[in-house]
Amino acid sequence: MKITIVAGARPNFMKVSPIIKELNKYILNGVPFRYRLVHTGQHYDQLMSDNFFEQLNIPTPDINLACSVGTSTEQTASIMVNFEKEVIDFTPDLVIVVGDVNSTMACTLVAKKLNILVAHVEGGLRSGDLQMPEEINRIVTDSITDIFFTTSEVASENLVKNGIPQEKIFFVGNTMIDTLFQFQHYSKIPNFYFSHSLQLTPYFILTLHRPSNVDHPDKLITTLREISNACKGYKVIFPVHPRTKKMLVHHSKMFDNIVIVDPQPYFEFIYLIQHCKAVITDSGGITEEATFLKIPCLTMRDTTERPETITQGTNVLIGNDFDKLHKSIDLILMGKWKESSIPKLWDGKTSERIIKIIFEKYTHLINNRLIYAQAI
Ligand code: UD1
Repeated sequence: MKITIVAGARPNFMKVSPIIKELNKYILNGVPFRYRLVHTGQHYDQLMSDNFFEQLNIPTPDINLACSVGTSTEQTASIMVNFEKEVIDFTPDLVIVVGDVNSTMACTLVAKKLNILVAHVEGGLRSGDLQMPEEINRIVTDSITDIFFTTSEVASENLVKNGIPQEKIFFVGNTMIDTLFQFQHYSKIPNFYFSHSLQLTPYFILTLHRPSNVDHPDKLITTLREISNACKGYKVIFPVHPRTKKMLVHHSKMFDNIVIVDPQPYFEFIYLIQHCKAVITDSGGITEEATFLKIPCLTMRDTTERPETITQGTNVLIGNDFDKLHKSIDLILMGKWKESSIPKLWDGKTSERIIKIIFEKYTHLINNRLIYAQAI
C-alpha cells in the first residue's frame, strides 16, 4: 500500500504532523506500506512554512512542488499540473488531504481524475459563505472525496445532507488539537515579549488575513482603529500575515497600542494565546485553539464553519460590528466571558483513530482495487 499526504499552507502543517507521527508508528511495527509527503509550496518561506516543519518534527517533504506564485487560480492550476506528475510517478493507492486550502482542492481533483482514493481530514465543514475561497475548496473537495474524517457531528451531518453515504463518514475529532495537545507544554516566550512588558500587563492577540477583512486598506485601517480604541490601555499583539502586510506597507506605525510583529512560529504563537486576555481573529483554526485553551475569542466574520467553537467553546462572531467589539472587550476585561467546554473527541487521539480506520477498513478495498487493476 502506498499513501501520499499533501500539505500546502500554514494551517495544514499542524494537521499533518500527528498523522505522519502515527504512520511512522505503523512503519516501526512492520506494517508493509510506504508514504510520501508532498509539500505543494503554497506557503514557502521560513515564517509561514519552515518554522512549522522544524518545531513540529515534520519530516522534510519528499517533494516540494514550489507552486506559490500567481492568483488563486494560477496557484491551483500549477499545483494540479505538478501534483499530477508526482502522482503518476509514485502511483499511490490513497491520497490524504487536510483542511480547506487551495492545495486541498487541487490535489483532490488530480487524485480523483486518476481514479485514486482520497481521504479528506476535516471534511464536512461549511460556513455557507461562497465569498470565502475556502468554502469553495471545501465543497469541491467533499463532492468527490471517498473517505471523510470529521471534527464534529455537525460536519458529519452536513455531509449526510449532501448525500454522502454514512459508511464513508467517520467522526474522529480534530488533528489540529492533537498537535496542540502534544506540543502545548513546549510553548515558548517570543523574543519581543519582555521588551513590550507583556509579562506585566494583560494583552490581546490579533490576527487578520481574510480577503474580506484585509484586501481594502481603508476598511483594514478602520478595523484596526476600532480595535485599538476598544483595547485602549492594553497592548494588541498583531502577527501580520504576508497578505495583510502588503496592505499595511504605508501604515507601519499607526496605532500606539497595536504591536506589529512577524508571523510567529507555532510554539511562540501558542505561548501568546495561552497568556493573553483574548484573541481577536478571522482565522477558523485559531477559534479552535482558543476553545481548547479556554481563552475568549472574538471572530471578525459573520459566519463560521466551526459552530462548536460558539455553541460549546469560547468563540463569538462579531463580524464588523464595532459596537459588539467594544462590548465584548469590556465583558472580557470584567472577567465575565461565557462558560465553555471542549468539544467531543478533541482529545489528542484523532490521528490514531484516522490511521486505524484507514488500515482496518480500507486496506482490503485498496488490495481489491490492486488485484482488479492487475487483472485488466
Ligand atoms: C491561505 C489559505 C487560507 C489559510 C491561510 C493561512 C487558500 C484559499 N487560503 O490564505 O485558508 O487560512 O493561507 O495562512 O488556500 N505569502 C508569503 N509567504 C508565504 C506564503 C504566502 O509571502 O510563505 C504571500 C503570498 O505570496 C500571497 C499572500 O501571502 O501573496 C497570500 O498567500 P496565499 O497562499 O495566496 O493565501 P492566504 O491568504 O495565505
